[in-house]
Amino acid sequence: MCGIVGYIGPRSAAAICLAGLKRLEYRGYDSAGIAAISDGQLDVRKVAGKLASLEEALQAEPVAGAPGIGHTRWATHGKPSVTNSHPHLSTNGRIAVVHNGIIENYGELREQLIAEGFKFLSQTDTEVMPHLVEKYYEGDLREAVRRAVLDLQGAFAFGVICADSPDELVAVRRFSPLVVGLGEGENFIASDMGAIRPETDRVYVIDDDELASITRDGVELTDLALKPIEREVFVIPWPADAAEKGGHRHFMHKEIHEQADAMHACLAGRLSSPDQPIVLEGLQMTDQEIKGLRKVVFTACGTAFHAGLVGRFVMENLARVPAEVDLAAELRTRDPVVLDNTLAVVISQSGETADTLVALRDLKAKGARVVSVLNVVDSSIARESDGVVYIQAGPEIGVASTKAYTLQVLTIELIALHFAEVRQTAEHATLRALKEALLAVPGQAQTLLDREDDVKAVAEVYYQMSNSLFLGRGVNLPSAMEGALKLKEISYIHAEGYSAGEMKHGPIALVQPDLFTVAIAVAGEVYEKMIGNIQEIKARSGPVIGVANDGDNVIGDECDHMIWVPPSPELVSPITIAIPLQLLAYHMADLRGEHIDQPRNLAKTVTVE
Ligand code: M6R
Repeated sequence: MCGIVGYIGPRSAAAICLAGLKRLEYRGYDSAGIAAISDGQLDVRKVAGKLASLEEALQAEPVAGAPGIGHTRWATHGKPSVTNSHPHLSTNGRIAVVHNGIIENYGELREQLIAEGFKFLSQTDTEVMPHLVEKYYEGDLREAVRRAVLDLQGAFAFGVICADSPDELVAVRRFSPLVVGLGEGENFIASDMGAIRPETDRVYVIDDDELASITRDGVELTDLALKPIEREVFVIPWPADAAEKGGHRHFMHKEIHEQADAMHACLAGRLSSPDQPIVLEGLQMTDQEIKGLRKVVFTACGTAFHAGLVGRFVMENLARVPAEVDLAAELRTRDPVVLDNTLAVVISQSGETADTLVALRDLKAKGARVVSVLNVVDSSIARESDGVVYIQAGPEIGVASTKAYTLQVLTIELIALHFAEVRQTAEHATLRALKEALLAVPGQAQTLLDREDDVKAVAEVYYQMSNSLFLGRGVNLPSAMEGALKLKEISYIHAEGYSAGEMKHGPIALVQPDLFTVAIAVAGEVYEKMIGNIQEIKARSGPVIGVANDGDNVIGDECDHMIWVPPSPELVSPITIAIPLQLLAYHMADLRGEHIDQPRNLAKTVTVE
């Protein structure tokens, strides 16, 4: 969950690392640090708090030289503090290490190293690494890192520099993401491509137990037995400025507003007209395999899990395959039964979420075929999947997932429709109408973005309240859950996403004038029931924000405030409904003065279980 960056070349490493860390700050932001080799010595600056404090520290006392490494932290072992922040140094002060991941056997290693005379300063798991590298260093940094890594259990991506080997930067990974960026007379490392995209569009994606020895002029990749590895250069497919804010105050706002264009990109080449079949190349499944499916299991975390809930609904409804959805963190504890011809659909924006990766491995070990629905290209989940359908959202930096959600749902709807076409489980007219609706979604998304001020006006009425309920039914129960998650994670307003049908079994006890309810009541099978639920809340003096279709003359009289969305078939409606709910959360959080892109206690990519 931390972010690492490194640089070797003629320029000053600190400036490049700082710029890269800013693009990685979504991964963690409770402390940060930089180390570079300057005049044969390690120069280190570390701060508790956000990167802005590190920037100030570097302005007050600049760090010159290269190679250098930088780190932005999301604490796992040891509270956020200067001492616990990275880079961590060896006892002799000649080796510096940045780390993303968790070293599971650090306790025993620490005891051993202390007994051998090494001095620990922090409470972190990471600190065993610089001491181990010092222990094994005999003039060859790569060899020392290699031997140190052989002692470790757990997950890691490391960047290591040594004042006695000033022409080399060494990096290594196991289960935590790492790329090496390729420049001219200079090279880079980073936790993800976005961090170094303004510097280069050419990278090596490093795999588990691979070691990179990096100089100004070259990169040598080997496995942990030092066997050379040939790796194709990956060319980053997005422009250098794709990860900048582009005039928006927050990444979240920018990403909400990118949704219409991203939806066009997601549909391109896959669905061109309602009369053409859907083409999903990444799926890697023959028609025979699709026809033979006996079960689909969706698994994911957080927002991606909500996309999976929509997936279960549309998969059963259209493709008539029994479908389940599991929180990735729970899947293992349940020991699910995997039948022959089970398809696991693994959903993740980052492709690096540890719980999701573990769930993938479990399902695969039980014999499931794995297709993942991902945003980040060539991620760990991508590499372990049998097929990957990319959502084509472009970089998502804001911790609150927005465009990834709508694009995940859109992509899953395409998969379900494709399966229904192949399995011939839905009427031609139904499929045609749904395809037409999906083709209309980007335009509807733009309409909703153009109505932002209407949603902001609603946010202005309610943002000071502390409690809320989000209600939906059927395919829009996940919309309610996702609306609630968005609100709680960035505004800290208590929000529960609930089935409206469950209200009378408990939660209605909460209803009173200072708890607002967002009720999703668009046209469809559950509309009448939703109107009934809204009346029950109104009868108990609870204020209601209705989410309904343009032109609905009934519901406006039932609710206190309205959010209008263009009509679409109920199965497709979760895609567009998400947009005003994202804007509602955004404006409530903004009105409350919260740190929208960096909500407390959260990190964008959760690479620990
Ligand atoms: O990268 P992933 O899609 O696997 O991430 C899953 C969740 O951690 C993520 O969706 C999280 O819930 C977001 N903060 C929600 O906005």
